[in-house]
Amino acid sequence: MLPAIEWKKDRIVMIDQRKLPQEEIYLECIDYEQVAEAIEKMVIRGAPAIGVAAAYGVALGVLHMESQENLSQELDKIFLRLEQTRPTARNLFWALERMKKIFLNNQKNSLSGLKEVMIREAKEIEKEDIETCKKIGSIGASLVRSGERILTHCNAGALATAGYGTALGVIRSSFKKHKDIKVYASETRPFLQGARLTCWELSKESIPVVLITDNMAGYLMNKGEISFVVTGADRIASNGDTANKIGTYAAAVLAKENRIPFYVAAPLSTIDFGLEKGSQIPIEERDPDEVRKIGSSYITLPDIEVRNPAFDVTPAEYITAIITEKGIARPPYNQSLRK
Ligand code: MRU
Repeated sequence: MLPAIEWKKDRIVMIDQRKLPQEEIYLECIDYEQVAEAIEKMVIRGAPAIGVAAAYGVALGVLHMESQENLSQELDKIFLRLEQTRPTARNLFWALERMKKIFLNNQKNSLSGLKEVMIREAKEIEKEDIETCKKIGSIGASLVRSGERILTHCNAGALATAGYGTALGVIRSSFKKHKDIKVYASETRPFLQGARLTCWELSKESIPVVLITDNMAGYLMNKGEISFVVTGADRIASNGDTANKIGTYAAAVLAKENRIPFYVAAPLSTIDFGLEKGSQIPIEERDPDEVRKIGSSYITLPDIEVRNPAFDVTPAEYITAIITEKGIARPPYNQSLRK
């Protein structure tokens, strides 16, 4: 699987996820501002991948410093810029906090020494994320029976992480165990991560996948065509309430109504123990044109009023279990997630 992001000597390279699957174009970032823009414009997206990109953004910022004068102020500027890119993904803030700690512990080093440790830490975050996803995949696969028909929403795959994926990690791992599974990927309006990215990723590995529009899930669940739902997460509050791509809440409610298990697969770095409940999670609102257009064409009046929340919050009561790299958490999440 091609990595979504890679450090190459003095730059980072990302596959431009806006262009997939029609074109496989790679974008190079040579400074932190370019990384911030790439996150905002969703060249790279998915909570863990955003975290890795931000960590590399900080490393690039430090790499370009020429003197140790005003080091702390310069670093603050970089952190502030990267923090402002996307507000919902907890992993972004988690990765920046981790980079900040390394900086504080090493700011007295020589500049070249500091550059080295900052790059090393960003690489470590990337490496750990792949290992974490593989653990989530293998733990989650224990819940998947042969013959399962699995709905997933958005893209929580290799493209959304440093590699392997969370929800798609569970699917990859199940498929590897030669389980007879089939994936239903909902298209995920308006950015179409399901149609463009999940279908592309799974097809590349010959994992059976069927594309549906978001509004078809209820009909198929009711007919008994879907037996299992797994999604990723952008931020999980202490009580288990989970922010994920807009449309996840609807899928979870439909799953409960149809007695289908609904799982969230996410690393511990997505859990925000500072938040008691989901209503405290900041929800990003994006450009109205993402809703007015498909690709470059308007599908409605160019000036129609639009709402475009990028995420919704699924209350914990709709979540059967949360699959993490340390095991499967079940309700009550206030206790199980901390454990
Ligand atoms: O807006 P996006 O594409 O960044 O949203 C991505 C999602 O909602 C994913 O499900 C989530 O980040 C988990 S990715 C492992």
